[in-house]
Amino acid sequence: LVAVRAEAAGGGINPAIRKEEDKVVDTVLTGELAKPLTAYCRCWRSGTFPLCDGAHVKHNKATGDNVGPLLVKK
Ligand code: FES
Repeated sequence: LVAVRAEAAGGGINPAIRKEEDKVVDTVLTGELAKPLTAYCRCWRSGTFPLCDGAHVKHNKATGDNVGPLLVKK
């Protein structure tokens, strides 16, 4: 919500990820084959979306946001 408010004045939080889709939805399934820990991006700045690549750190410093990844643990 904080990130959405910070970006709202600029026209949205997603500048480039899968813009050809009406809605970007990703499903996380966990199970025996899952990695022990996976970090999923919630800032829309990752170069490896939907996985977090740490780009949220630069985004937070530049905008004052406090977004971070969704962590999925096995
Ligand atoms: Fe987006 Fe980490 S790069 S949450």
